Amino acid sequence: MIKAAVIGWPIEHSRSPMIHGYWLKKYGIDGSYTKMAVKPEEVAAFVRSLAERGLAGCNVTLPHKEAVFKAADVREPSAEAVGAANTLWLENGRLHAANTDTYGFMRHLEVSAPAWRAKDRPVILLGAGGAARGIVYGMLEAGVGEVRVANRTLARAEEIARHFGARVKPLAWSDAQRAASDCGLVVNTTSLGMAKTGPLDFDVGCLPNDATVADIVYVPLETDLLRQARARGLVAVDGLGMLLHQAVPGFAKWFGVTPEVTDDLRDILVADIEGR
Ligand code: ATR
Repeated sequence: MIKAAVIGWPIEHSRSPMIHGYWLKKYGIDGSYTKMAVKPEEVAAFVRSLAERGLAGCNVTLPHKEAVFKAADVREPSAEAVGAANTLWLENGRLHAANTDTYGFMRHLEVSAPAWRAKDRPVILLGAGGAARGIVYGMLEAGVGEVRVANRTLARAEEIARHFGARVKPLAWSDAQRAASDCGLVVNTTSLGMAKTGPLDFDVGCLPNDATVADIVYVPLETDLLRQARARGLVAVDGLGMLLHQAVPGFAKWFGVTPEVTDDLRDILVADIEGR
C-alpha cells in the first residue's frame, strides 16, 4: 500500500483528500491519502522523516510552503522560482520539492481559454503574494513578453520584478485599471472576492473585447470578477481548475499513474464548495 498525505496547520479545510481519494478509487490503486496536522515547529523534522512514516511523499499547504522548500534536498525549478513548495516526494532516498501551483494554473488556463496566446499581449496580475510569484513564473515560461504586477504594497511588486527581471513591470494598485486596457489576460491572485474578504474593486469594462479573465479564488466558485467577465462575453477562468490540476503531478509521482481531471471530479468539488 502506497501512502501519501497533505500537511498543514490547520488542515481540516483541505479538499486535497477528496481529489486524491477520487483518483485512488478510480484507478484501483492500493493507496491512501490523508490529512495530517503538523505544527510549524515540527514541519522540518516531519518532512525529513517521510520514509520512517511510510509516506511516499506529501502535499504541503499553509503555512509550511517555505519551510519545506528549505528542508528539501533537491529543489525543482518550479519551486526554486517561487521560493516555496507544495509537493514533496522521495527519489533515491532524497527529498524532492516542487511547486505544482504554476503547472495547475497554466494547465487549467490552456484547457479553459484555448484561444489565449501568450505571445500576443501583456498580462496583468492583481496582487504580489506567493500565488502571484508562481503565476509570473508560468507566464514568463510560456513566453509572455510583459507581465504587469499591480499591488497595494508597491514594494512587493517591485521585489517580484527584481527577482524575475525586466519583463515584469511593477505597478501601483491604483494604476491597475488603466494598465489593463491593452492586456490579453488579467488574473486576480489576491484573496479579494472570497466569501470572507472584501470585494475586489476591478471593472472589466476597461479590457479589450477578446481578453481572458482568471481568478484564483474558488469560494465562491463564481466570483464577482468572473461574473462581470462572463456578462461582458469575455472568457472566464475559475480558481477551482487550478486546484484540481495542481494535484496531478504529485499523484503521478507517488502512485505511478497520471490522473485525469474530469467533469465528474469537478462536480464533486463543486458540490462540496456549494455545501450540497
Ligand atoms: P498568497 O501567498 O496566498 O498570495 P499573500 O502573500 O498574503 O498570499 O498575498 C495576498 C495578496 O493579496 C497580496 O498581494 C496583498 O497585497 P499586499 O501585498 O499589499 O498585502 C493582496 N491583498 C490582500 N488584501 C488586500 C486588500 N484589501 N486590497 C488590496 N490587496 C490586498
